[in-house]
Amino acid sequence: MTTETVLTGITTTGTPHLGNYVGAIKPAIEASHRSDVHSFYFLADYHAIIKCQDPERIRQSTLEVAATWLAAGLDADKVIFYRQSDVPEVMELTWMLTCMTAKGLMNRAHAYKAAVADNEANEESDPDKGITMGLFSYPILMAADILLFNAHKVPVGRDQVQHLEMARDIAARFNYHYGEHFVLPEAVVDDNSAVLTGLDGRKMSKSYNNTIPVFTPEKPLRKLVLKIKTNSLEPGVPKDPDTSTLFQIYQAFAKPEETAALRERYAAGIAWGEMKQLLFEYLNTQLAEPRARYEELMRNPDHIERVLCEGAAKARERSVPFLQRLRHAIGIRTLSG
Ligand code: TRP
Repeated sequence: MTTETVLTGITTTGTPHLGNYVGAIKPAIEASHRSDVHSFYFLADYHAIIKCQDPERIRQSTLEVAATWLAAGLDADKVIFYRQSDVPEVMELTWMLTCMTAKGLMNRAHAYKAAVADNEANEESDPDKGITMGLFSYPILMAADILLFNAHKVPVGRDQVQHLEMARDIAARFNYHYGEHFVLPEAVVDDNSAVLTGLDGRKMSKSYNNTIPVFTPEKPLRKLVLKIKTNSLEPGVPKDPDTSTLFQIYQAFAKPEETAALRERYAAGIAWGEMKQLLFEYLNTQLAEPRARYEELMRNPDHIERVLCEGAAKARERSVPFLQRLRHAIGIRTLSG
């Protein structure tokens, strides 16, 4: 049995929310328990500075994301869990790949195209206004993250599939010029994983400011659940579970039989107030244990720092010799002997 390498990155610009937890964190941690995979998870802090120029925010988010993954059950002895900036080979490879990347390929990246389209919609005289080279060449940094460890599979959201195609293109071109050094990675998009709705009924997302942070303490958690938008149907009137944010969040955590039982209570006209109380209590119980671990971790940033440094050391056992080989391949070689 060949062991597959699975790798994914988490941009450190925000506080992980329930949508991240059920849609990405939980499934990734479950997958990491399989014995036939070699998992790499990293905090993409060099990606974070593309969008966020608030240094304290970057530091705080890095801490929160690391603590969330560890509290949720990531086993740092079993997987390689590291911070991108602790592996300088990522940056070195980024430049090598930049020299193998067609500019036209980057022109087609949708994050860049969306920024240009915004400028055009606002009738700016310069369509590139406010666009940095970081945003423009972001897919190359992402390709370096992936190719550095020769990952076969990369679990990502649908919005990242184009970046995986670009990583393959770049890898293929490098291989063509310099020999077969890179595995061509594949995106893995899990269409079954839950996409949660936020407080206001739109997709839960930090850009809409409608999230419930995963490990919100009890009191603010209750307040947030009470804020979730419902319609104005009275108690006793049957309600549609499938358009209800409260139901959907419950479902993302509950067992199928619990969800089925709640469906009946919707049919019987459960009151919104009662449903909010029920969801709050359910989440509060489900999250109590990992939340206690999270709070403990957040009080011990030194411990997290150590875990990440150990992870980076493990990652570098691979990346340092690999970069040596790549340098040689492209002609950056010793002149003596
Ligand atoms: N760009 C990804 C996102 O926004 C995060 C990321 C950075 C990533 N590097 C990666 C994901 C490498 C997978 C592999 O979600």
